[in-house]
Amino acid sequence: MTRREWMLATGVGVSAGAAGLLLEPEKGTSMRMTAVEKLFVKSPGHAGEVAGHAESLLERIQVQPGWRYLDVGCGVGATARSVAETRPLSVVGVDIDPDQIKAARASGSLSNLQFQVMNATGLEFGDEEFDIVATSKTTHHIPSYERALVEMVRVLRPGGYLIYTDLTVPDWLAAVGRRLLPVMGFPSEGALDTFAAEAGLSQVFRSRSFVQLDKIWQKR
Ligand SMILES: C[S@@+](CC[C@H](N)C(=O)[O-])C[C@H]1O[C@@H](n2cnc3c(N)ncnc32)[C@H](O)[C@@H]1O
Repeated sequence: MTRREWMLATGVGVSAGAAGLLLEPEKGTSMRMTAVEKLFVKSPGHAGEVAGHAESLLERIQVQPGWRYLDVGCGVGATARSVAETRPLSVVGVDIDPDQIKAARASGSLSNLQFQVMNATGLEFGDEEFDIVATSKTTHHIPSYERALVEMVRVLRPGGYLIYTDLTVPDWLAAVGRRLLPVMGFPSEGALDTFAAEAGLSQVFRSRSFVQLDKIWQKR
């Protein structure tokens, strides 16, 4: 991730003159999402890169035909679509933003792919419905991201996999205090590990590059 991506993703630089208005996070939703970031995540280059990254994580799992795959915070659906096109899985992408879901649906229909407007903090699925739950660059947008993670684990069956990718802050920075800068409310790896232990998740893969953390956990 470049410094520019980091600034766009986090909204750092919000106070930078006239651009501040454009970068103001949207109000009235349970997310932190800037107008500029919306444009950025919709760009084909970014969508392709994200889908490729998600595919590389999925390759670490021995996926079985017919498994149900949920993408939480799917955005314009590039990853969900790529997974549905390349694997015999039943794929659902959910996002809180109706515009993103509209764009995802507009890319064409597939028999094994659905998109739904839905808040990650209240997933409208039954317990243990999915074999894989994936989320990419989404939890840091959700003020109550812990609630979203609880929901992701709830809808995952025992033995299923939670594939997590997001921007995180180092543990020491999270410890300094969340109030100094909004980014301090981001997940930290320590907080995620504590959550995982309490939620009955075993780590099967971990990778970090700059501020991006990838984890795959298996639900016990
Ligand atoms: C940076 S985009 C990431 C999109 C895609 N997963 C990717 O990796 O490119 C974050 C997405 O999370 C969605 N989002 C934010 N808060 C959410 C929530 N509470 N529930 C569901 N989706 C949410 C946003 O609408 C946005 O599409």
